[in-house]
Amino acid sequence: MAQFLLVTDLDNTLVGDDAALGQLNQRISEHRSTFGTRLVYSTGRSHQSYLELARQKRLLPPDALITGVGTAIRYSNDGEPDGDWSAVLQNGWDRDLALNVASHFADLVLQPESEQSQFKLSYFLSEEIAPDVLPRLTDLLKEAELQFNLIYSGRKDLDILPASADKGMALNFLINKWQCNPARTITCGDSGNDRALLSISGTYGIIVGNAYPELLEWHRNSPSPQRYLANQYCAAGILEGLRHFGFL
Ligand code: GLC
Ligand code: MG
Repeated sequence: MAQFLLVTDLDNTLVGDDAALGQLNQRISEHRSTFGTRLVYSTGRSHQSYLELARQKRLLPPDALITGVGTAIRYSNDGEPDGDWSAVLQNGWDRDLALNVASHFADLVLQPESEQSQFKLSYFLSEEIAPDVLPRLTDLLKEAELQFNLIYSGRKDLDILPASADKGMALNFLINKWQCNPARTITCGDSGNDRALLSISGTYGIIVGNAYPELLEWHRNSPSPQRYLANQYCAAGILEGLRHFGFL
């Protein structure tokens, strides 16, 4: 047994089964104090919305917190976002332009103000019309010469982000900063915005058993021996995957 870096999504991945979460917390706490294992949360939630969840559920304090689909990195629950990462995100990003282009689509419904930020523009988009709207929106954003990253998740959420923002690129920044070994890094997720997290080369990945079809389909089409689809749900699936790869 040795130190590793566990990076997990929250909703429907780490959080969703309180009993299993308690068991996983205990194993990770032990590993942390014995081996210095590190824990990172990477969520689509805003910082504010993460803090609400942290009040409701028993979450261990993370070593880093990535919120807003990779658009902010903090090193404590109430710390300020990493300024170096914000500077990277700023490159080629024009939020007002993205908002302007997106406003041409009546089917895009803005998410609440609490989920919007300087580097994240988020909408609701229903699953039925997404295949029609997404390519047209992509074309228009390209025509406007915006550099962006478009992510559709959970059959309803659409995020328009800076080109260098997603959960994967944010984690890469952290791996470089902390000089982590990718072979001792394991990521966990359940939905579309976790794809980038589960795609970092050299790392291991766990897809929880309750994952959305969008993620399962991607995994089926591009399987990897370093990515494991658990049978169990949420934190129980994470435990299953950590054991599968011999991390626990
Ligand atoms: C979370 C965020 C939302 C985002 C979604 C998918 O639910 O609150 O803004 O669109 O994750 O990334
Ligand atoms: Mg999730």
